[in-house]
Amino acid sequence: METNQNINLEYPLLLIQNVSKYFDSASNSTSLSTSTSTSTLTSNQQTNQMSDSTMVLRDISLTIDGGETVAIIGESGCGKTVLLKTMIRLFKPDKGNVIFDGRDLSELTYFELAQIRTRYGFVFQQAALFDSMTIGENIAFPLTQHSNKTKKEIKEIVKNLLNEVGLSEQIINRKPAELSGGMRKRVGFARALALEPEIILYDEPTTGLDPIMSNVINELIINAHKNHNVTSILVTHDIKSVLKVASRVIMLYPLAKLNRGEKQIIFDGDIEKFINCNDNRVREFISV
Ligand SMILES: Nc1ncnc2c1ncn2[C@@H]1O[C@H](COP(=O)(O)OP(=O)(O)OP(=O)(O)O)[C@@H](O)[C@H]1O
Ligand SMILES: [Mg+2]
Repeated sequence: METNQNINLEYPLLLIQNVSKYFDSASNSTSLSTSTSTSTLTSNQQTNQMSDSTMVLRDISLTIDGGETVAIIGESGCGKTVLLKTMIRLFKPDKGNVIFDGRDLSELTYFELAQIRTRYGFVFQQAALFDSMTIGENIAFPLTQHSNKTKKEIKEIVKNLLNEVGLSEQIINRKPAELSGGMRKRVGFARALALEPEIILYDEPTTGLDPIMSNVINELIINAHKNHNVTSILVTHDIKSVLKVASRVIMLYPLAKLNRGEKQIIFDGDIEKFINCNDNRVREFISV
């Protein structure tokens, strides 16, 4: 894999501007295709929407530069996964904008969004492999969908990726159910690397793993950054992983525990500032 050179230097790689996200508490779900942008509603509809909805993200603004490794932390339910999914438009914000490399994701056509997504890797919390496909087919999936590579080239890339994540080529024809949780995570990781992404979003990559496997995953994240200059955004509860991997920490706080005017991002700074932060809410996380 080559180091990414084609990042637009005039813009931060990722710009989150005043993003808010609500969920409909009646159905308790909002799908991308059915959610309605608040800007297209009348004020009456907006009031109704607010009263029937639970706000999860409120007025979030942040900037992520190319090459950063950022950990997003915070207690369960505070909106970390929702924020991560908003960054790749798996969730559509109800207010605000997500701008990737100068392109506002809300203004892209379906095809343009699919193109942009090839520049992202997403490592899901549960690996999210396709059960009916072999390990090889799972890793090859983004390449078969989004590249013109031949079968032979794809097979070679899959072998290299297995190697890169420390798995034997011999598992290539196995099914996900035949692997351990840690191995599945590594396969998910290999799949996320397949299209040589510029940015990888990780959702709890070490949660539920033993310390040795957690360390393996941390090393993979560090190597992806070192070897390919990948920008990494890591949602995690794992303080050891934060300290080992991240150069910057963002801490979100649950809206229900904040007063109306308070910002939901209660900390945003480098790792040294994080370790020395006096805010009790941050200290509580560090001392877990
Ligand atoms: N698809 C959805 N439909 C409805 N509500 C949702 C949906 N996804 C998330 N939520 C709600 O949004 C809130 C934040 O969820 P989120 O998954 O982002 O939390 P989190 O910070 O990632 O928590 P955890 O650390 O437990 O993974 C929760 O109250 C959750 O119930
Ligand atoms: Mg989550």
